[in-house]
Amino acid sequence: MIINKNTELEAIKKTISKCEKCSLHLTRNNVVPGEGNVDSPLVFIGEGPGADEDSSGRPFVGRAGKLLDKMLKDWAGINRNDIYISNIVKCRPPKNRVPTDDEMKSCIQYLESQMLVIKPKVIVTLGATSMSYFTNKKKISESRGKFYDWYGNIKTFVTFHPSYLLRNHSMEKGSPRWYSYMDMRAIGVMFRALQKGKNINEVVSAINSRMKESGGI
Ligand code: URA
Repeated sequence: MIINKNTELEAIKKTISKCEKCSLHLTRNNVVPGEGNVDSPLVFIGEGPGADEDSSGRPFVGRAGKLLDKMLKDWAGINRNDIYISNIVKCRPPKNRVPTDDEMKSCIQYLESQMLVIKPKVIVTLGATSMSYFTNKKKISESRGKFYDWYGNIKTFVTFHPSYLLRNHSMEKGSPRWYSYMDMRAIGVMFRALQKGKNINEVVSAINSRMKESGGI
């Protein structure tokens, strides 16, 4: 059976828009299901909507989102519209606190359904919350710049959250921004290789060698 990804994702969005499974629905203005190219080999997943996302219903449109767009464009050579972006939770946690385990548990089926429809080759996790859901890793400084296995053939690639970089400006070698630069360059290479239909395992092995040689990990 041929499934139309957009139709399937619209159906998931409709369910999300009515969701009252956790208390975040009481304070939200809009749900933020996710957006972007549903045929992209890469999906980027953050933690949860902030104030700008809550008022617009779109992911990563505030300060962190603007930085993400710039890093994608300047460092990875990727246009935001060429990838899909979403979050672990679809409603804003008050005062931008980290979502609780119960909130994440209530919400995660939506993200999993979205991923099963989109079937990306790689999920790029932005920040600790997304990393720990997808990889069970705890230390981003040790886990970033590397691939992990998720379900089936889907890999994850860990990098810093752009919000963290808004508080860390140094581009000195070994700084979070410098490592993000290395990650984004690798992400650009993997995006173009996967778009050309290169085999995921070959792409992973080429990126791993590149990261080792360049001091990115
Ligand atoms: N931070 C996130 O994790 N997600 C957004 O959509 C915006 C900021």
